[in-house]
Amino acid sequence: MSLTTFRAGAQPLGVSHTKVTVPTLGEMKRQAKPISALTAYDYATARLADEAGIDLLLVGDSLAMVVLGHENTLSVTVDEMLHHTRAVRSAVRRALVVADMPFGSYHGTVAEGVANAVRFVKEAGAEAVKIEGPRTELVRALTEAEIPVIGHLGLTPQSINRMGGYRVQARTAETVRQLEADARSLARAGAGAIVLEGVPREAAAQITAALTIPTIGIGAGPDCDGQILVFHDLVNLTFAPAAKFVRRYADAGALFRSAIERYREDVEHRAFPADAESYHLSSGERRALGMEAELQAEAEAEDAIANRDALQEWTS
Ligand code: KIV
Repeated sequence: MSLTTFRAGAQPLGVSHTKVTVPTLGEMKRQAKPISALTAYDYATARLADEAGIDLLLVGDSLAMVVLGHENTLSVTVDEMLHHTRAVRSAVRRALVVADMPFGSYHGTVAEGVANAVRFVKEAGAEAVKIEGPRTELVRALTEAEIPVIGHLGLTPQSINRMGGYRVQARTAETVRQLEADARSLARAGAGAIVLEGVPREAAAQITAALTIPTIGIGAGPDCDGQILVFHDLVNLTFAPAAKFVRRYADAGALFRSAIERYREDVEHRAFPADAESYHLSSGERRALGMEAELQAEAEAEDAIANRDALQEWTS
């Protein structure tokens, strides 16, 4: 058991308490205010990120890799994504909660895509969904169904088999033009923002300038309207060298490892738990259980401590 009640005023100073919505993202772009975004998959980290003032929390399908230990994102299911989205939703008060639609959940008909997106809103409380690729017809249908959509272009991890690996995209003038055309058509279809992943800085800057909706970059340079990172990359809870675009802000891996090792050692040396970390019976109940000998020993030990303290006070 662990208590999880909300504290009033948990946001740091200078962070607005106003709920972030998809229109807020557009307003932030108009005001040239950078959008901070991070992935989140569980209650505790989502709550920390929300209380730290992050604007957008994405329940990314990257959870397949960083939380479930799968090789890539393709295997995660709608039910697994719903489960984690619910946990994040219950932690968050201010940030926009976006659910990533997993591979296969929107690759069939538009009607199937809409039906799966409805589940994220209805069953998990998502406030927007994210889909990969230039799927303008689906974005239009979702928008008509009142489900805000975030697009995702460039390096789209669900296309790993087609791309042949995780490679920086849009490296030629022609592919930059195509990327911009895709971004423009997603915006026209109603997307509220577009994640640009793994593209050259210059391409991201050109697309950001061309759109009225915000771009949120990951491995796309500093000129996007916002930035997103995978939480586990940010705090070093991964087990591989970081990609070029990752900045590690903490070493939670080392912190957790040391805490777990110290706990194990304390258990092995019977140093945990201490008497002060234990619950006790009242002396009446202990007497009723025939524990007079321990009570007597405790009383003598207490007397010895009191006598020692008195002597020290008298001689000092
Ligand atoms: O799943 C994910 O974490 C993502 C972000 C990296 C944008 O799609």
